Amino acid sequence: MKTYLVTGGAGFIGSNFIHYMFDRYGDDIKIINVDLLTYAGNLENLSDVKNNPNYSFVKADICDKVEISKIFADNDIDSVVHFAAESHVDRSIKDPEVFARTNVIGTLNMLNCAKEAWETNDGFKEGKRFLHVSTDEVYGSLTEEGTYFYETTPYDPHSPYSASKASSDFLVKAYVDTYGFPALITNCSNNYGPYQFPEKLIPLIINNVLTGKKLPVYGDGKNVRDWLYVMDHAKAIDMVIEKGRIGEKYNVGGHNEKQNIEIVKIIIDTIKEMLPEDDERQAHINYDLITYVEDRKGHDRRYAIAPDKIRSEIGWEPDTMFAEGIKLTIRWYFDHTEWMEHVTSGDYQKYYEEMYK
Ligand code: NAD
Ligand code: TYD
Repeated sequence: MKTYLVTGGAGFIGSNFIHYMFDRYGDDIKIINVDLLTYAGNLENLSDVKNNPNYSFVKADICDKVEISKIFADNDIDSVVHFAAESHVDRSIKDPEVFARTNVIGTLNMLNCAKEAWETNDGFKEGKRFLHVSTDEVYGSLTEEGTYFYETTPYDPHSPYSASKASSDFLVKAYVDTYGFPALITNCSNNYGPYQFPEKLIPLIINNVLTGKKLPVYGDGKNVRDWLYVMDHAKAIDMVIEKGRIGEKYNVGGHNEKQNIEIVKIIIDTIKEMLPEDDERQAHINYDLITYVEDRKGHDRRYAIAPDKIRSEIGWEPDTMFAEGIKLTIRWYFDHTEWMEHVTSGDYQKYYEEMYK
C-alpha cells in the first residue's frame, strides 16, 4: 500500500486531490494530510473522508522541522505531494513576508525532512517521489497572442507570490541537481472548481452574483488567464508521480485562455440560465453588476500554457472542458451556501476544530 504525505490538503486543490485519489485508488492508498489551517484551509472540505481509516490529518506548520520530521519518522512515506503555500497574489502585494516564509522556507523544510528520511548510503530509497506543485506564474507575463509558456521558458516572476513560488522551484531543482533528490515539479495554469476560497476570481464572482454584490474587474478586464478544472490538475499530478521522470518539470494546462471580462460575463449568463425563472434573484442579475476598479499593481497581462510535454510523455489530457466545468462549479456553489457562509464568516476554523476534537 502506498502512503502519500499531502501538504496543504485542507485548501482548494489539495482537498480536491485527496478526493480524486480516494475515488481512484480506494483502500489501496493511505493519505496523511498536513495543514496549518490558515484562513485558506478548511477541514469542512474533507468532511466526507474524515472517518476513512486510510486518511489522517495532522495540524502542523510546514516550516516546523520537529513536527514534519516526526511524520516521516512515524510513517513510511512513499510520495510527498506539496501543495501548502500562500496562494493569493493580492495578499502577496499587501504582505509579502508570509509568502517568503511559507513558500520558500516551508518548501526547504519539506525537502530537508524528506531527504533525511529517504537518503541511503548510495542515493535514495527506491520509488520515493517528491512532487512540488507550482504555478505558471513563475514564467511571468505573455503579451502576444499565439505565444505560450514552455518548460524551457525562462523564469520571470513579477509578484511577491510568483517570486516566492519561483524561489521554491529553484530550491527543488537544486536538491535534484546537488543530491540527486527524487523530485518533480508541475507548473499549472489557473484552476477553478469546488472548494475554492472566494478571494479568487471565479468563486468571488459566483458568490457576488448570487448575493447581488458588485463584480470588481481589475483594470480594463482584458488580462488573460488559462483556466483548468481542478480535477484535471489532480489527475495530472497523479500521472506525473506515476510516470514522470525524476528531475523534470511538466507544464499543466488545457488551452482555455479567456479574458477576465469574458469569464465574468459567462458566469452571469450561466447563473441566469441555471436559476429557475421565478427565482427572485433573477431581477438583479445582469451586466450592470460589473464594476471596473483600480488595476492590480504589476498585473500580469496574459498566461498561457503549452501542455505538449505532459501530453506526449505522460499521456495526460484534460477531461472537463470549460463549458461543462463552469456549470459543475456554479452548481457546487449553489448547493454549498453553508460552506460559503462558514468560510466568509471567519470563525469556521474554530467551529471545525471543535467538530474534529
Ligand atoms: P489554497 O490557498 O487554497 O490552500 C493552501 C493550503 O495550504 C491551505 O489549506 C492552508 O491552510 C495551507 N497552508 C498555508 N500555509 C501553511 C503552512 N505554513 N503549513 C501548512 N499548511 C499551510 O491554495 P490552492 O489554490 O489550493 O493552491 C495549492 C498549491 O497549488 C499552491 O502551492 C499554489 O501555488 C499551487 N497552484 C495553485 C493554482 C490555482 O489556480 N489555485 C494554480 C497553479 C498552482
Ligand atoms: P486570481 O483569481 O486572483 O488569480 P491569479 O491572479 O493568480 O491569476 O485572479 C485572476 C484574474 O482575475 C487576474 O487577472 C486578476 C483578476 N481579478 C479581478 O479582475 N477581480 C477580482 O476581484 C479578482 C480576485 C481577480
